[in-house]
Amino acid sequence: MNEKLNKIVSDVKEQLALIKDENSFRNLKSSVLGKKSEINDMMSSLRDLPTEERPRMGQLINETKTLLSELFNLKDEELKSVELEKKLSAETIDVTLPGINVPSGSTHLLKNVIEDFEQFFIGLGYEVKEGPEVEFDNYNFEMLNIGKDHPARAMHDTFYFNENKLLRSHTSPVQIRTMLKAKGKPIKIICPGKVYRRDDDDQYHSHQFMQIEGLVIDENITMGDLNGTLNAFIKYFFGEEKEIRLRPSYFPFTEPSVEVDVFDGEEYIEILGAGMVHPNVLEMAGYDSTKMQGFAFGIGVERLAMLKYEVDDIRRFYTNDVRFLNQFKGGRK
Ligand code: DAH
Repeated sequence: MNEKLNKIVSDVKEQLALIKDENSFRNLKSSVLGKKSEINDMMSSLRDLPTEERPRMGQLINETKTLLSELFNLKDEELKSVELEKKLSAETIDVTLPGINVPSGSTHLLKNVIEDFEQFFIGLGYEVKEGPEVEFDNYNFEMLNIGKDHPARAMHDTFYFNENKLLRSHTSPVQIRTMLKAKGKPIKIICPGKVYRRDDDDQYHSHQFMQIEGLVIDENITMGDLNGTLNAFIKYFFGEEKEIRLRPSYFPFTEPSVEVDVFDGEEYIEILGAGMVHPNVLEMAGYDSTKMQGFAFGIGVERLAMLKYEVDDIRRFYTNDVRFLNQFKGGRK
């Protein structure tokens, strides 16, 4: 019996040495230590031995079993560490390989221009306001001194929902909304937003575009304040060397009115309208025009962006061609 046990141990040692994978390891283990193993049979056959020999043999078999278990444990650990080694070497990172480029979005050029604009005016103490794009005829025209039969209406080619409701054709109605709320108090706001006109779309026109409105109302506001503010802005936005000119113009809601053109190297391009708020507008919105004055301006955002970033066609802002958009990644320039 003793010999038999020794043989089992030496056989197992030999076989274990050859084993390289988990599967054959498990098979061997169950055939050596499992229910149908030789050693188990030997345990069962103890009862055939004379009583006085049983304890010694029983102990011997148990010791052998423990020894075998230890051998299997050792092998198990060895297999596991080999497996780990393999995994580690298979999963090493080659830092010299080229990376994977994850495409990322960025803010739209028009948004950057508006933020740039806001930055400047917030610095001067202006508040940023917004108004609805679906607007009353009353605010879009009437209270801006553009009556029903006013010829200026023709220039605005407006989208109407009905007689009283329309898609705002400019951001100027926000002036009215702000004045009605301020109830005679001073005002200093800018208002960026979308506006709509039934223009035929071409290189310079789109049925939807963006404007930024400005309005300042206080005592003793003069044309000099308007001139200084616009000049400072243009220099901030385009650089000191950019040439501008103020040209007398006409808007129903300002008197006097001007248009501001920027020289692009070849010609003067109109970028904004401005003027002193018309007394009629002030009075209609509840201000005493003998005590309070104001100036206002309205800027075309796309025009500004086209000039500064040398964009040749307004439609490029809306067609979402990433080749175009990617040129302006990374925010303001
Ligand atoms: N609302 C005018 C337009 O869309 C632009 C404008 C001109 C706004 C003069 C003003 C202003 O506030 O004073 O053509």
